[in-house]
Amino acid sequence: MPKQRAKLVVGNWKMHGRLAENAALLEAVAQGAAELPESVRVGVCVPFPYLAQAQALLAGSRVAWGAQDVSEHTQGAYTGEVAAAMIVDFGSSLVVVGHSERRTYHHEGAELVAVKTQRALEAGLTPIVCVGETLEQREAGEMHQVVGEQIDAVLAKLSAQEAVRIVVAYEPIWAIGTGKSATSQQAQEVHAFLRERLVAKGAQDVPLLYGGSVKPENAEELFREPDIDGGLVGGASLKYKDFLAICEAAGAVSVTQ
Ligand code: PGA
Repeated sequence: MPKQRAKLVVGNWKMHGRLAENAALLEAVAQGAAELPESVRVGVCVPFPYLAQAQALLAGSRVAWGAQDVSEHTQGAYTGEVAAAMIVDFGSSLVVVGHSERRTYHHEGAELVAVKTQRALEAGLTPIVCVGETLEQREAGEMHQVVGEQIDAVLAKLSAQEAVRIVVAYEPIWAIGTGKSATSQQAQEVHAFLRERLVAKGAQDVPLLYGGSVKPENAEELFREPDIDGGLVGGASLKYKDFLAICEAAGAVSVTQ
């Protein structure tokens, strides 16, 4: 069997959840995570108002937590924004940056995503930097160019010491929330391409997550690929059984480094 790296599985709740139902979900995930092999790390990224709840219910568990976006500013008159230091105040260690839903609906460009990544790192958070192409771009053969530009914009702003502290998530936009995951070969191909970029920056060990309709049925096959170090899981992270099954799939193919 080829050598597998340790795996990381992160839930991205998006704009889902309510206080009462979150409690049951967080408790179930914390309990289930306790049974996982040490080679699997688990996290959940929740809406800002629930960071305190995540902290209260996950502190001391195997599950890390964090947010889904961060301001490019550190503080000031930016109504509605949330600074990295505020996210850290609730014990968070993670933050998703540059998710395609933010790039599309909030017009976040490559430069802004790079600055947000810097703000997260400065505050001591692990930014999960998302990249991915649309179906149109893939069909036009522009996939490598698109994800290459997205990752390069971030890496260009980071020192080698900073670059090793990020996580990258490849999320083809056509696979997000559609039930239509990339095949493991399609994902591996892009992950290998991204890995080359990271190697050039001296950050070859950065975890490369795949996201886009990850579910219990396809997780193990995806996670077996040599450059897929885990998953960023949307819809399936809202059902504790599915999320834990995905974490278990990661456990089945991972080894402690
Ligand atoms: P999905 O979302 O698993 O529901 O496709 C993944 C994501 O957008 O992070």
